[in-house]
Amino acid sequence: MILDMFSLQDKVALVTGASRGLGQGIALGLAEAGADIAGVSRGSTAETKVQVTALGRRYLALKCDLSQASVAELYDLVEQTVSALGHIDILVNAAGINHRTASLEFAEEDWDRVLQVNLKSAMYLSQAAARRFAEQGKGKIISVASAMSFQGGYIIPAYTAAKHGILGMTKALGNEFASLGINVNAIAPGYMDTDMTAALIADPNRGPAISQRIPAGRWGTPQDLQGAAVFLASAASDYCHGSVVVVDGGWLNR
Ligand SMILES: NC(=O)c1ccc[n+]([C@@H]2O[C@H](COP(=O)([O-])OP(=O)(O)OC[C@H]3O[C@@H](n4cnc5c(N)ncnc54)[C@H](OP(=O)(O)O)[C@@H]3O)[C@@H](O)[C@H]2O)c1
Repeated sequence: MILDMFSLQDKVALVTGASRGLGQGIALGLAEAGADIAGVSRGSTAETKVQVTALGRRYLALKCDLSQASVAELYDLVEQTVSALGHIDILVNAAGINHRTASLEFAEEDWDRVLQVNLKSAMYLSQAAARRFAEQGKGKIISVASAMSFQGGYIIPAYTAAKHGILGMTKALGNEFASLGINVNAIAPGYMDTDMTAALIADPNRGPAISQRIPAGRWGTPQDLQGAAVFLASAASDYCHGSVVVVDGGWLNR
């Protein structure tokens, strides 16, 4: 049955940014498809835990501030997942932050923090997971890119650089890991209604201007990413290496 290829029954997924927004939506989608979840965030992931366990799946809460974490601490997230849940099959790099300031004023500390959370942590978590996956001859790495992996955006230079970097990293790791049985791919959401974009949505000028430019006529939701996430986490995407699935309501084509 073709739908069996999309099953994640008894797989284990490590998901960063699992406390809320898009990472939470992805975690719940993977859990609904059968995966146990190890969820990373700085704060509480209690709400995600309740929803994952209600789906009959196990949930491991992992606390980590990715803006401060050493490479050894990132490695430890993978090790904790394997110790508690038995194995790891899927890594989702969904944690992210943005910082809006004009490039003439953009401070070094803000640049470093955005790059650390959005790009460097994804690289070293991918490296840690890939070492495990290489031993298994199998594994899935999914990173959350953005429409800003293709566009420049406005007063978000660090975010745009990081998201272009996510796409480059996805292609580079995809090339290296394909022969190891590891799939490295990305999802590029468009404008999604989450905490990250609350101020933008509320902006009396930019909010409506963005809304009017989205061909689908609405901002995306965390649920809108679940299909792409399950696809990229499952055997259905076994021949995808370095691909990016754009889920943007048509934004980039306009
Ligand atoms: N919203 C959009 O329109 C949009 C569009 C394209 C791509 N994206 C990307 O999608 C991903 C999720 O964004 P979102 O919109 O869901 O944002 P969000 O609602 O603000 O959630 C951000 C998530 O990242 C985690 N996080 C942030 N800083 C962290 C840190 N220092 N250490 C550990 N975890 C940290 C948060 O955990 P805590 O709860 O612990 O803070 C939270 O789970 C990001 O990579 C973002 O760039 C978003």
